[in-house]
Amino acid sequence: MKTTTLFAGISLATTAMATAIPMFPTLPVRSNTRPIRLLHTAPKPYSSPPLFQGARIFSQAQTEESTIGGAAVAAAGSDHKVTSVSAAFVVPHARMPTTGPTANNSAGMYAASFHVGIDSFNAGCGADKNRFIRAGVDVFWDGAVDGEQNPWVWYQSSPTDEDGLGFTNFSVAAGDLVRFSVTGAEVKVENFGANVTCVKGLKAKQSVVQKIDGEGLCGGEAAWAVEDFPLAGLPNFPVPLADFGGVVFKEVEVGFEGGSNETVSKNAEGAEVRDVRLAAQGGRLTACEVIEGGKKVKCDRVVEE
Ligand SMILES: *[C@@H]1O[C@H](CO)[C@@H](O)[C@H](O)[C@H]1NC(C)=O
Ligand SMILES: *[C@@H]1O[C@H](CO)[C@@H](O)[C@H](O)[C@H]1NC(C)=O
Ligand SMILES: *[C@@H]1O[C@H](CO)[C@@H](O)[C@H](O)[C@H]1NC(C)=O
Ligand SMILES: *[C@@H]1O[C@H](CO)[C@@H](O)[C@H](O)[C@H]1NC(C)=O
Repeated sequence: MKTTTLFAGISLATTAMATAIPMFPTLPVRSNTRPIRLLHTAPKPYSSPPLFQGARIFSQAQTEESTIGGAAVAAAGSDHKVTSVSAAFVVPHARMPTTGPTANNSAGMYAASFHVGIDSFNAGCGADKNRFIRAGVDVFWDGAVDGEQNPWVWYQSSPTDEDGLGFTNFSVAAGDLVRFSVTGAEVKVENFGANVTCVKGLKAKQSVVQKIDGEGLCGGEAAWAVEDFPLAGLPNFPVPLADFGGVVFKEVEVGFEGGSNETVSKNAEGAEVRDVRLAAQGGRLTACEVIEGGKKVKCDRVVEE
C-alpha cells in the first residue's frame, strides 16, 4: 500500500488520509531533539473542548474531537471548591499501535500523557480560561531510537509554565507505581517502584514536592486524564497516540472545601467522562470509565469509529 509520511513521521495510508483528514496540510518533519518532550498545550487547529457547565453530567453522545480523555468531578452545591486531587497508577509502557491509521510506522514517534489536575480538564479558569495546575507523566515510543523511551514526569502551573516543568533528581520507569497529589499549594509525586499494585502500607522509594502558587485557581473541578499533546517543536498537531494498553487511576481522591469550610474527601463517583477522539487517528482512541463506585478511573487504548 502506498503511504505518505505525516504526523511527525507517521505513515498513513493515502486512502485513509484522503477520507479522514482532508484538512491537514503536509507536516514538517519532527525535530530530533533529545530527550523527547511534549508541549502541554492543546494543538492549535483544535478548539478547546466544550465547557461542560454544571459538571457531573456525562455526555453520552460525545462526537467532538478531543485531545483529552478521562474523568472530572466538579465543585457543586456544598462541595463548593476543589482543594486537592490525587491518584496512584502504574506508568504504562508506550508501544507502537498495530491498528488504526497510525499503526506500524516503525520509524515513527508515538506518545501519551497521563495527569491529574485542578481546573485542567475543561477550559481552565480566569479571564483567559488558562489558569490550572496539573502534574503527570509522558511516555514515548520512538522507532528512530529503538522504541520505548524514558517517561518524563512534569508539573504545570498554567499560564506561568506553558509547557510543563520537570523535577530535578526524580524519575520513573514504565511499570512503576506512582502517586500524584495536587493542591493549590504544592504538587507531590511519589514513586513506589515496580511490581506493586497498591500504595497502602507502602513507603515511597522516592518522592518530590514542588511548591506552587495557587493564586487565581477556581477549584471548579478535579480530573484524572489521558491526553494526546503535540510534540515540542510541532505545536499544531497532536503526536500519534501511543498504544499504552490501558491506565487505571486508583485510590482517586478529591478534596472539597465544604459548606462550613471543613474538607470533604470524595472519589470519582458521578464524574463527567470523556474519551480522546481524533478522526485523523481513527476516531475514538480511549475507552474511559469510572469503575468500582468511583474508586478508580480506567482508560483503555482503543481504535474505534
Ligand atoms: C501491523 O503489524 C501487525 C504485525 O505485523 C499486523 O498484525 C497488523 O495487521 C498491522 N496493522 C496494520 C494496520 O497494518
Ligand atoms: C538525589 O536523590 C538521591 C536519592 O534520593 C540523593 O541521595 C541525592 O542526594 C540527590 N541529589 C540531589 C542533587 O538532590
Ligand atoms: C518485577 O517482576 C518481574 C517479573 O516477575 C521481574 O523480572 C523484575 O525483575 C521485577 N522488578 C523489580 C524491580 O522487582
Ligand atoms: C469560609 O471561609 C471564607 C474565607 O475564609 C469565609 O469568608 C466564609 O465565611 C467561610 N464560610 C463558612 C460557612 O464558614
